[in-house]
Amino acid sequence: MARKGNDKGNGKRNDKGNEWWRTAVIYQIYPRSFADANGDGIGDLRGITSRLPALQRLGVDAVWLSPFFRSPQRDAGYDVSDYTEVDPLFGTMADFDRLVTTAHDLGLRVIADMVPNHTSSDHKWFQEALASPPGSPQRDRYIFRNGRGRNGDRPPNNWRSVFGGSMWDRVTGADGQPEQWYLHIFDSSQPDLNWENPWVRERFKDILRFWLDRGVDGFRVDVAHGMIKKAGLPDYRPPKAVASMGGGQGQKDQEVDDPPYWGQDGVHEIWREWHEVLAEYPGDRVLCAEAWVAPLAKVALWVRPDEMNQAFNFDYMFAGWTAKDQRRVIDESIAAFGAVGAPATWVLSNHDVIRHASRLALGADSPQGDGIGPRSKGKPDPVLGLRRARAATALMLALPGSAYLYQGEELGLPEVIELPDSARQDPTWFRTRGRKYGRDGCRVPIPWEAAAPAYGFSPTGASWLPQPPEWAAYARDRQEGVPGSTLTMYETALRLRRGKRLGSGTLEWLPEFARSTAVVAFRNRDVVVVANLGRAWVTLPEGRILLESEPTHIGRNGRPMLAPDATAWIETTERPASAR
Ligand code: GLC
Ligand code: CA
Repeated sequence: MARKGNDKGNGKRNDKGNEWWRTAVIYQIYPRSFADANGDGIGDLRGITSRLPALQRLGVDAVWLSPFFRSPQRDAGYDVSDYTEVDPLFGTMADFDRLVTTAHDLGLRVIADMVPNHTSSDHKWFQEALASPPGSPQRDRYIFRNGRGRNGDRPPNNWRSVFGGSMWDRVTGADGQPEQWYLHIFDSSQPDLNWENPWVRERFKDILRFWLDRGVDGFRVDVAHGMIKKAGLPDYRPPKAVASMGGGQGQKDQEVDDPPYWGQDGVHEIWREWHEVLAEYPGDRVLCAEAWVAPLAKVALWVRPDEMNQAFNFDYMFAGWTAKDQRRVIDESIAAFGAVGAPATWVLSNHDVIRHASRLALGADSPQGDGIGPRSKGKPDPVLGLRRARAATALMLALPGSAYLYQGEELGLPEVIELPDSARQDPTWFRTRGRKYGRDGCRVPIPWEAAAPAYGFSPTGASWLPQPPEWAAYARDRQEGVPGSTLTMYETALRLRRGKRLGSGTLEWLPEFARSTAVVAFRNRDVVVVANLGRAWVTLPEGRILLESEPTHIGRNGRPMLAPDATAWIETTERPASAR
């Protein structure tokens, strides 16, 4: 299969060792919200295929598809009931094959989303476990335990679900009496698999091979920090600061603590086995970890040479919008990933967090997954948010390593805050009885054409979450070819990034700004990047301006000036300090 448009001439499929993922920009497609071909208001595979040329024009290297496997959709597909089938909601296996072929013909790689920590409770294995007695091999595929207390009517331990409520639910035995409990880190419809069980491990190797045989270029691995639990399943005793924040999946939590279900050493054995499975296949396939652990040096354990290839950099995602925080997290990331020979990765948005065009203007802290809604205090200023988002993205796309984009961020989409309660679907919203809004606000179907029904998302105008009226202004056709639009800025940044090989470059801080409280400034190959996170305009270094997230102005000194909350790329002929 011909591959075009990649940096290192990825023409052949059989060439091991080009490791395309080291510098790739990977675009996350959230299938239900990307493009709907059949008009039922839910995005589907045929919709995705029809829109792939737009992603090629954008200039990304790969797409990652959130789950499209058979699922009752209680957690939007992260609750899989059959790992080797396409959910009819999204289409057929033939639709998937055509998606992969089309993507490959366009020079785009395809990454699938594997969900091994838990299945749906509708999965055949869980149904078999329920129908089998305690102690049976079928039960041993999941985590069943007797309850505490005289009648076993208290859960086996005190763990709390990431989505709210207990992490345990009790089942009813064949005699109609309450019986054992099963563990679910997420919704009660997402029972955790028992990864100590070799049978489970073998099944997943088969599943990986199934999709590798169909041509996928790798996997994003869901909850890659959760699959092994601490032996004996001891109670979790969070430090006080954590307890007051609800002990959820929030970034701050893990900075101070390691719950007994996250980041246990045993997970690494699994990744070594998966590494071997991918190595059986021609070409370079990628494994990317979703591992919410801290600090970054611990995340780097997931990407040691015999494990996965990439891990999302959530420290970067949540770093404060200050020059000091940005420099610190960039330094730490390059050091931590570099220490194990892995590329640094960068990400600002995904389907679980508040879109960065809103998050960067939020006053209050908002842990992952909590969301914001009509009754939230301190709603973000959309103008400031977008301005900062553009500046942050322009900074990110100049960094060496690999970057992840989330669908719609290239349009500058904000979080949808004013979703009516009745439209919300995230299990977090239900399990916390509306105390947390959850993640629906970043999952609203994206706008393609300002004047079309559902802004071109769906031919019938249907949309599983309502799109706000002001989204016409963000539609892709309003931004394509428009100088200064967010889409144009992304396209320019991606074109330059590829042309100037910034992904495989090295970062060098500009000494004159190295301690600045307002400015982040570095050089990567022949590009100097200046981001102004302060309040005053900043004079730019000499050189031709290649990209600006906000228009620069000529100052009284005759030099171009950069506004607050803006980033510029400048071409320089001056040799880097290291080469002098
Ligand atoms: C991951 C997914 C999230 C999902 C959860 C449970 O964090 O990104 O969307 O709800 O896992 O599968
Ligand atoms: Ca559809």
